[in-house]
Amino acid sequence: MLGLLWIVFVGASFPPLQQEGDDLPDASGVERVRDVCTLCHSLKLLTQQRLSRSVWEEVVDDMMEYGAPLSAQDHHDIVDYLSINFGPEDTAYTHSPIP
Ligand code: HEC
Repeated sequence: MLGLLWIVFVGASFPPLQQEGDDLPDASGVERVRDVCTLCHSLKLLTQQRLSRSVWEEVVDDMMEYGAPLSAQDHHDIVDYLSINFGPEDTAYTHSPIP
C-alpha cells in the first residue's frame, strides 16, 4: 500500500512532458519532430534536453548538416516546438500563446 502511494505521489509530481519514451507533448510541430527527429536516433536524445531557443536553433542547424530533411518552415516550426516544450525550466511555456 505504501508502495502504491509512493508511485501515485511521484507520478503526480512530474508534469507530463517529463514522461519517458517518445511521449512528446502534443502541440503544433509535433508531427514533424516525430517524423524527422527519429530518422537517425531516439527521441530520448531530445526529450532529455532543456535548452534555450538559440541553442535549439543550433542543434536543429547541426541536424540539417547531418542530413535531416527539413525545409526552412520545418526548421522554424521545430525550433518553436522544442523551445516551448523543452526549454529551460523557468522559461518553459512562456512562449505559448494565451488562448
Ligand atoms: C540525419 C540524421 C539525423 C537526424 C534526422 C536528426 N539527428 Fe539529431 N543527431 C544526429 C547525430 C549523428 C547526433 C550525434 C552527434 C554527436 O555525437 O555530436 C545527433 C545528436 C542529437 C542531439 C544531442 C546533442 C548533440 O548536438 O549532439 C540532439 C538534441 C538532437 N540530435 C536533436 C535532433 C532533433 C531535434 C532532430 C529533428 C529536427 C534530429 N536530431 C534529427 C543525427 C540526426
